[in-house]
Amino acid sequence: MNRLEVDFLNFNLKNPVAAASGTFGFGKEYAKYYDINQLGAVSLKGLTLNKKEGNDGVRIWETAGGMLNSIGLENPGVEAFVETYDEIKSRIQTVKIINLGGDSLDEYIEGARLLNEIDIDILELNISCPNVKSGGMLFGVCEKSAYEVTRAVKDITRFPLMVKLSPNVTDIAAMAASCQEAGADALSLINTVQGMAIDIQNRRPVFDNIYAGLSGAAIKPIALRMVHQAAKAVDIPIMGIGGIYSAKDVIEFLMAGARCVQIGTAGFIRPTKLTEILAELDEYCIENNLSLKEIINIL
Ligand SMILES: Cc1cc2nc3c(=O)[nH]c(=O)nc-3n(C[C@H](O)[C@H](O)[C@H](O)COP(=O)(O)O)c2cc1C
Repeated sequence: MNRLEVDFLNFNLKNPVAAASGTFGFGKEYAKYYDINQLGAVSLKGLTLNKKEGNDGVRIWETAGGMLNSIGLENPGVEAFVETYDEIKSRIQTVKIINLGGDSLDEYIEGARLLNEIDIDILELNISCPNVKSGGMLFGVCEKSAYEVTRAVKDITRFPLMVKLSPNVTDIAAMAASCQEAGADALSLINTVQGMAIDIQNRRPVFDNIYAGLSGAAIKPIALRMVHQAAKAVDIPIMGIGGIYSAKDVIEFLMAGARCVQIGTAGFIRPTKLTEILAELDEYCIENNLSLKEIINIL
C-alpha cells in the first residue's frame, strides 16, 4: 500500500510532492542528483509563445529566510519546446505540468494551441509572474482579466487546466472563485510575493526592474493562509506552493486544503531536498498509521 499517493485531477499521484515551475528547468540538472521520477509530478520552466532572453542585471538575491528572483521568464519559446518534447518525455515519466505565461491574451491562446500538438498532462497557466513587464501578472491581479484568460485558454486546450494565482492581490478567495467560474480545473498557489532590495553602497535598487519575486521559507505563512482561503472558496483541487522546506510544511498545506504541493526554493538549498521530504513523509505516515489522503482539508 502506498500511503503517500493522492488523487489530483484525473491523476493518481504517487506522492503529493512536485517540483515548482522555474526552479527545476526541464529536469536535466536535478536528474544528476536523484531519480526525478520519484516525484509525484514536475512543473517545468515557464514557457511563453516567443523565446525570452530574460532580464539583465542581478537575477537572484538571497534574503533572510528566502530569496528574491528576477529571471524574467527566460525560456526557449513554445515552438522550440514542442520540438524537443520527445527528449523531455523520455527523461521524465512522472506527471508533467507545462507552465505557460504570456504578455497578451493572443499569446496565451496561441501558446496553448501549439501545446495541443504534444502529450502533456496538465497545463498550468501562469497569470502571476512579477518579473516581466506585464508578464502575466496583469492578468493575475484583476478578477476580470483572470476570468478572461482562463476562459479563453480553457476553450482551446485539450488538457486539464490549472491556473497559478498571484499572492499580490487583496482578495485571493475572489480570484480563486473567478478562475473556477471561468472553467479552471484546478488552482496552484502561490507565485512569488513582490519584494525589493537596495544596494546601499551604490544607492540604487539591486534589480534592474526594481521589484522582484520573493520565495522560500519567508513566504510560507502567507502561502498557507492563501491556500486555506482559496480552498474554502472553490470546489476544484488545489496545489499548494510557497516556502515548503520539510514534510511538516507539506502536511500543513494538505491540512489547509491543498491536495498536493510544489516545492521550489528548498531544492536550491539542497538539490536532494525533495526526496528527503518524501522519506520524511513516509515516516510520518508510518508513525501515525495513516495515509496522506486522510489529512487533506482536515481543518
Ligand atoms: C528562480 C525562480 C524562477 C521561477 N520561475 C517561474 C516560472 O517560470 N513560472 C512560474 O509560474 N513560477 C515561477 N517561479 C515561482 C515558483 O514556481 C514558486 O511559485 C515560488 O518560488 C514559491 O515557491 P517556493 O517558495 O517553494 O520557491 C519561479 C521561482 C523562482 C525562485
